Amino acid sequence: MPAQLLDGVALSKKIRTEITARAAIVTAKGARPGLAVIVVGDNPASAVYVRNKVKACEEVGFHSVLERYEAEMNEEALLARIATLNADPAIHGILVQLPLPAHIASERVLEAIAPQKDVDGFHVANAGALMVGAPEFKPCTPYGCMKLLESIEYPLRGARAVVVGASNIVGKPMAMLLLQAGATVTICNSKTRDLAHHTKDADVLVVATGKPKMITGDMVKSGSVVIDVGINRLPDGKLCGDVDFDTAKYIAGWITPVPGGVGPMTITMLLMNTLEAAEKASKH
Ligand code: GUN
Repeated sequence: MPAQLLDGVALSKKIRTEITARAAIVTAKGARPGLAVIVVGDNPASAVYVRNKVKACEEVGFHSVLERYEAEMNEEALLARIATLNADPAIHGILVQLPLPAHIASERVLEAIAPQKDVDGFHVANAGALMVGAPEFKPCTPYGCMKLLESIEYPLRGARAVVVGASNIVGKPMAMLLLQAGATVTICNSKTRDLAHHTKDADVLVVATGKPKMITGDMVKSGSVVIDVGINRLPDGKLCGDVDFDTAKYIAGWITPVPGGVGPMTITMLLMNTLEAAEKASKH
């Protein structure tokens, strides 16, 4: 029997309904949630992502600003812009879309964002807090994956979880959240020997490598939960994940589609983080 779908569109809709209601309450208190999205350069994928983020803000009643800068923008100008947004009371979340052009040091830019406005959860203060306790914000993609698992009441305590990919944005924070939920976690990376040995042991498999269809059905444990973070464009223009959906769906118990799985959840959790930043600000 094919796997059941972990539907990120349906779950997002449910959570965004709650976000809309809470946004109206906080707006009535004078703190309409506000998100600033900065994109530097003309990466086509980034252009799509930021447009979707700003559109999602509008749909839930947030204030949003999209700032686009030319690839030649210098780092000082970007840091100055972030300093201004840090001090702007109408802005509760600041997101600098990655990747940045090579002449700009991403770490310096991310560290310039006030941790209370770091709705991506990428600042070292938030990354550190995630490791040792309660972070101000959880990174949106891993947070969305956890919500998908929560939606099927997956019992993570004692489960074997394998994360393929060890990026700061997805793999590492994902592993930390799974660990905190009581799972036994393995993080695989591009040098891992006998990857299938690990993935076939996973009750929960999260894949974030950026390599189209690299995890095939024979690498998946029967009945497991497979969460595919990848969004890759094939030469024919179609989107596909890092998991070969057509073979994995016959082995897994649950699987996320691409598109319509993790993608919408990432944006939803960005909205949730921004909402929570505004709710905190309204209490001050
Ligand atoms: N680039 C790819 N994913 C992300 C993300 O979640 N946030 C930001 N800021 N940039 C990204």
